Amino acid sequence: MGRADASQPIIVSRDLTKRFGGRAGLTALDRISLDVREGEFVALLGPSGCGKSTFLRCLAGLEQPTEGELLFDGRPIQGPPQGLGIAFQRDALLDWFDVLQNVLLPAEFGGLRVRDHEPRARELLRMVGLQDFAHVYPSALSGGMRQRVAICRSLLLEPRLLLMDEPFGALDAMTRDQLNADLHRIWADRRMTTLFVTHSITEAVFLSTRVVVFSPRPGRVAENVVLDLPAHRTLALREEPEFLRYARGFRALFETMGLIHG
Ligand SMILES: Nc1ncnc2c1ncn2[C@@H]1O[C@H](COP(=O)(O)OP(=O)(O)O)[C@@H](O)[C@H]1O
Ligand SMILES: [Mg+2]
Repeated sequence: MGRADASQPIIVSRDLTKRFGGRAGLTALDRISLDVREGEFVALLGPSGCGKSTFLRCLAGLEQPTEGELLFDGRPIQGPPQGLGIAFQRDALLDWFDVLQNVLLPAEFGGLRVRDHEPRARELLRMVGLQDFAHVYPSALSGGMRQRVAICRSLLLEPRLLLMDEPFGALDAMTRDQLNADLHRIWADRRMTTLFVTHSITEAVFLSTRVVVFSPRPGRVAENVVLDLPAHRTLALREEPEFLRYARGFRALFETMGLIHG
């Protein structure tokens, strides 16, 4: 699993431009340059339509850049890279599989011996408090529980890179807070390299080691800020002055972009 040179970024985006519909079409991403190193938790923060999902889809090998290059472990991404975990806003659980089977799907799809991965699946379920729900079907779960199952699934094969696209966007505020705390705990424990798309400033600052702000379409890197916050965080951090300073800074940036009006 290890790489020869740990100082090499795991992701390199160089002047990545993505256009839809040919030359005269719509530019979704405009010369995105961004490196991500192993173990970072990077939030991509920006308004709707600025290309956040498109960027993740390029990383997942589901879209090809129009110009520029995008490397994973030093190699251009052509099709879904090995070692990728994905969790999106719609949890995409299969209703005819129980919770445990849903978590085990990546092993099933990967042609691996599903039985070998069951202990790990159960451990992940325990980590998010769902150990007693292994044989329950998704239709009997709340939105928050379903999203926890989806997170377990994305972590099953110990991904080198975890891509999360507004995974908590459809949840009520309290459940979202809880899942923020849960996800942070998991990340602090495992340090999986994560790219997390959100348009919540609070969520971005709480979860991340670095926040990359995209401008409104066409998406450009407007700001790239390494956060000097404790590695281990509880929700109470959100009331601390250093947290509020960052949150205020990003809000001010969105105001200058004309996206929020005080
Ligand atoms: N497959 C596609 N074909 C054409 N336009 C697309 C496609 N995917 C995304 N877009 C456009 O690209 C822009 C960025 O979309 P998206 O990446 O979904 O933004 P975000 O996730 O930041 O809300 C939007 O204007 C969207 O309509
Ligand atoms: Mg999106």
